[in-house]
Amino acid sequence: MKVLVTGGTGYIGSHTAAELLMSGYEVVIVDNLSNSEASVAERIARITGKNPAFYIGDVLDEALLDRIFSEHKIDAVIHFAALKSVPASMSNPLLYYHNNVSGTLSLCRAMHRYEVKNIVFSSSATVYGISDDKPIGEDAPLSPKNVYGNTKLMMETVLTDLYRSDPEWNVTLLRYFNPIGAHESGLIGEVPAGVPGNLMPYITQVAAGLRPHLNITGTDYDTPDGTGVRDYIHVVDLARGHIKALENSRGLGIYNLGTGRGYSVREIVRAFEEATGVKIPCVEAPRRPGDLACYFADPSKANTVLGWRAEKTLHEMCADSWRFAKSYYGKA
Ligand code: NAD
Ligand code: UFG
Repeated sequence: MKVLVTGGTGYIGSHTAAELLMSGYEVVIVDNLSNSEASVAERIARITGKNPAFYIGDVLDEALLDRIFSEHKIDAVIHFAALKSVPASMSNPLLYYHNNVSGTLSLCRAMHRYEVKNIVFSSSATVYGISDDKPIGEDAPLSPKNVYGNTKLMMETVLTDLYRSDPEWNVTLLRYFNPIGAHESGLIGEVPAGVPGNLMPYITQVAAGLRPHLNITGTDYDTPDGTGVRDYIHVVDLARGHIKALENSRGLGIYNLGTGRGYSVREIVRAFEEATGVKIPCVEAPRRPGDLACYFADPSKANTVLGWRAEKTLHEMCADSWRFAKSYYGKA
């Protein structure tokens, strides 16, 4: 079975491409390298001993997609290619709607032309836009609070309507919670562009000595220690969820991919220090505008229907994040 992975040199796409190759799938990657490096394709080959086909280009380029679909008999698409910064989406909404929503339309049109009717889509817990001390199920109200989240909900709508127009489609919408960690080889991981916006890449840059301290953004939330609580999931567990989705989801399927357990910022810092032996100086800082206090997944639907469950521990998430960052920042 041959799978087209859009955004396949990115953080989650590269881990998924590696897991697919290890599981015996053939992989074709298309990525415009707007947020990743071409060398990732070679690293995937080093990890797996198998070469993915690799096209450098944009999912908005329909001529390129025609070339890919005519050169390969694609059975299914896993669609990661998107821009993902919440603040950048607020300052440049047209870029985000064009790249993410128009990119998805362009891809689906090509799939339609070549009668490829299986797609697994990277959605996000950000579509829920709610904060609660109870696990969030897939039927929770949808109410994204930023442009990036709006693009995700729009793409979910496009794909759902496509399925409704032709039930031969298999459309799987995977709503990820907070992916962290890296491949245990240390060869692939998350490389943030500029100042990291997310917690773990910021922590690893502090650990690598690139930044003096972590700003804990919000210490007065209604949570046990006052800091934000999230459901962190190891990126390799997340990658494996995509394979389970390809194998077990039929028709229209919507699944949360998370562990079902929330950790606070202070708990993450403590776990990182314990796993790595590196001290992370912290400074209390104001809340980030629009941040939610607490959210974590109810992953039971993915557990029962897809036969998938997150297995890796927080200790592994921290140790693996650091192994990659250490080598990437030349601290190994
Ligand atoms: P990433 O930026 O590392 O990977 C995305 C890849 O897509 C990059 O390699 C980028 O170069 C490529 N790309 C972007 N636009 C493209 C286009 N028009 N054509 C071709 N390639 C393009 O991000 P990631 O963390 O791996 O996220 C993958 C997907 O998962 C995204 O859709 C993202 O929105 C979603 N997601 C991520 C998170 C997270 O916290 N990382 C959470 C929920 C959902
Ligand atoms: N935080 C800090 N300091 C930092 C960065 C983050 O204390 O330097 C805190 C935040 O306030 C929050 C927690 O760490 O409490 C996690 O923040 P992240 O930015 O890592 O994650 P978010 O849950 O805010 O957002 C991420 C992605 C979104 C995605 C969402 C849900 O950035 O794109 O997860 O999947 F939509």
